[in-house]
Amino acid sequence: MTVTDTRLAPNTFLSGNFAPVDDELDVADLPVRGAIPAELNGRLLRIGPNPVSPPDPATYHWFTGNGMVHGVRIRDGRADWYRNRFVRDDNVTEVKGWPHTGGPRHGMGPGVANTNVIGHAGRTFAIVEAGGLPVELTYDLDTVQMTDFDGTLPGSFTAHPKRDPITGELHAVVYYWEWDYVQYVVVGTDGRVRRTVDIPVPGKPMLHDCAITESQVVVLDLPVTFNLEAAMSGKALPYLWDADYGARVGLLPRDATSGAETRWCEVDLCFVYHPLNAYDLPDGRVVCDVVRHPKMFATNQNGPYEGLPSLVRWTIDPASGRVHEETLDERGQEFPRHDERLIGRKHRYGYCAAFGDGIEHGPALKHDLERGTTEEHQYGKGRVTLEPVFVPRHDSAAEDDGWVMSYVYDATTNTSDVVILDAQDFTGDPVAEISLPQRVPFGFHGNWVPDAG
Ligand SMILES: [Fe+2]
Repeated sequence: MTVTDTRLAPNTFLSGNFAPVDDELDVADLPVRGAIPAELNGRLLRIGPNPVSPPDPATYHWFTGNGMVHGVRIRDGRADWYRNRFVRDDNVTEVKGWPHTGGPRHGMGPGVANTNVIGHAGRTFAIVEAGGLPVELTYDLDTVQMTDFDGTLPGSFTAHPKRDPITGELHAVVYYWEWDYVQYVVVGTDGRVRRTVDIPVPGKPMLHDCAITESQVVVLDLPVTFNLEAAMSGKALPYLWDADYGARVGLLPRDATSGAETRWCEVDLCFVYHPLNAYDLPDGRVVCDVVRHPKMFATNQNGPYEGLPSLVRWTIDPASGRVHEETLDERGQEFPRHDERLIGRKHRYGYCAAFGDGIEHGPALKHDLERGTTEEHQYGKGRVTLEPVFVPRHDSAAEDDGWVMSYVYDATTNTSDVVILDAQDFTGDPVAEISLPQRVPFGFHGNWVPDAG
């Protein structure tokens, strides 16, 4: 049969392990194989799209589904609990008949927050880009309220704030389709926005993530831009490839008072969701390692890739106005992470999830960028890792001395586990594997949030 009506075509992002789960579970004392390190006390949180009611498969875009957060709490060598909860945007509460979520609103949508979940200022937030506000969650992942950080956030936030490891403040670059600028936002350790700087841009770029160094903010201004025609025609995600827009990377001094201080550097056409990390060189150049996509939303508006994304090193030279690009690892990969005590400082190691067609088993990758080598952890037949998160053994442990934790989906059993690897025995057997009571759909991001004290 030839499918001529696209409404009959299956939507990849509603099937297999992309499909949503319906139930909110609370399950205590999870089965563990191996031994959970006693040093780990906290929650491994994760979030992704999980439509609360069946969307139209012809128009559903993966990036726009209602958020669902999953968490495993680990304490004293035990897996205390697994929980999952819808993030209660206005669509979720309406469909479920649940009480309206309090707090402010921004933008026109229902307030979906589906892209990252973080701990900050002793609180937990589900966060998203492009206009939706953060949603504050309890420790147990129930929705508290939508928040503009006590009235201090002018508009949009981001799914990817960067925490300065010295000050504990969050640094972000945010965008909104109505703005003719993007905005640098600093959130203090009290959970309130401390300062903002508007950075003029010639269009309305999708700006998913940023990087910081000790002195600079790295601003991505790349050729995926808001398309009014696509918005008017009802596209769920009205951002398209626009080669004419060009591609550039900006360096804004972190202490700048005006966006006009941004020094822009040309880069070859590409799209980047995620930098791995960036750092200053003594001569004023900046190194920024990124996962580089050759294109995005050019021929396939659904994404999530057009040509395999690879790991590259940008050396950004504000004196010449150019970016030098060097391939670090050309195999398909995404969700780059590193030891976040080194945000903005020189890193040696990076961890990614292998990504793309032809990758049957979905290994995690560990890059040693000093030696130029990559190790693969194969989780076994049919098992696919989601974003790997590095957790240091203790506060003063060396880089890479710790664990790589991830949610791993097993297609042969349709179940998920949390798998804990020893980062320094990356290809060896896992230290521990925690069996979860339901599968965790493919989604976006998560973090280890250590318990206070
Ligand atoms: Fe992301």
